[in-house]
Amino acid sequence: MENNYRFLRACRRQDVDCTPVWMMRQAGRYLPEYRKLRKKHSFWEMCRTPELAVEVTLQPLRRMEIDAAILFSDILVPLVPMGAAIEFFEGKGPVVEKPIRTASDLANLKVIDANETVPFVMEAIKILRRELDGKVPLIGFSGAPFTLASYLVEGGGSKQYQHIKTLMYANPEVFHKLMDMISDTVISYLSAQIEAGAQVVQLFDSWVGCLGPLDYQEYVYPYNRKIFAALETYDVPKIHFANQASTLIDQVVAAGGDIIGLDWRQDLKKAWDIVGPERGVQGNFEPIALFAPIPEIRKRVKRILDQAENRNGHIFNLGHGILPTTPIDNAKAMIDAVHEFSAR
Ligand code: CP3
Repeated sequence: MENNYRFLRACRRQDVDCTPVWMMRQAGRYLPEYRKLRKKHSFWEMCRTPELAVEVTLQPLRRMEIDAAILFSDILVPLVPMGAAIEFFEGKGPVVEKPIRTASDLANLKVIDANETVPFVMEAIKILRRELDGKVPLIGFSGAPFTLASYLVEGGGSKQYQHIKTLMYANPEVFHKLMDMISDTVISYLSAQIEAGAQVVQLFDSWVGCLGPLDYQEYVYPYNRKIFAALETYDVPKIHFANQASTLIDQVVAAGGDIIGLDWRQDLKKAWDIVGPERGVQGNFEPIALFAPIPEIRKRVKRILDQAENRNGHIFNLGHGILPTTPIDNAKAMIDAVHEFSAR
């Protein structure tokens, strides 16, 4: 057993030498080497050029003892060949040129075959597997249908989710058709990533926390369930991360995933009781606590590890993505503290 495969072992709830750790958004703007490369290339160019995506994926691993690599890409990548024009603006995030709000908008979208339409993602995965050479496993990912639909319908990020909820309540047929098309796209996208060599996949349901449990059950659960069911044929661990979803956690678990991602708003020990012993949990360090002095960071790492009690199946992570202004030394201190305090 390679030590560095402790992440895969934890995903399968096997014994580990210490708790594995990685960070959501670990490939990104808090690293000066990322910012330097980004000055020369647009964000889409970086996502679409396998050599650049590979380089950015590897950057954080050169600095820190991270136990998994996550492919550098974006959840919005497959929406472009589906038919959406998406641009990134500095400080504003992604913007969808013509939001999808009616049946006729929907007619311009199509389900994609990922190998045909985003081959650069699969190419990056193949190169990464060679470059990583068994040192750490590679995580592939996709946005979940509701999160992706929110971008398409809102036209970008949102505070109130007024347009997507209005579509849901006033025009459920269009909503369900859209979710159906996105789900089929996600299944093609994740299957292709696994076939190309992704050893674990994570489904990001970043915006689903805006829904109440009854709406989750009716409008979201069937689609996430369908995705996990479709991926059952692949013997790779699946992580299901739903952000701000402590009130939905039992439903998230029922939808699927071997590992349930937790944000920092919930108590890890109590959440794991709901998740149950058959699955692992990932999380849940508050990303903004990385701005605290290192002794405070270490204390907070210890607190999470104490809640997990070195049970098999804990993967340490942030509760959400690392912020671009995070001091690198603090992130590194968190990672080192996880390994130090959790050594078996
Ligand atoms: O985790 C990783 O390191 C892998 C790469 C990754 C990125 N985005 C790179 C990125 C992953 C897994 C994502 C997922 C993603 N993208 C999510 C789900 C995760 C989450 O945070 O809940 C979401 C909601 C998106 C959509 C998205 N992409 C937004 C809102 C933004 C803008 C953010 C901002 O603050 O401007 C992006 C752009 C993006 N994705 C960047 C990176 C490194 C920054 C782009 C830049 O260099 O300007």
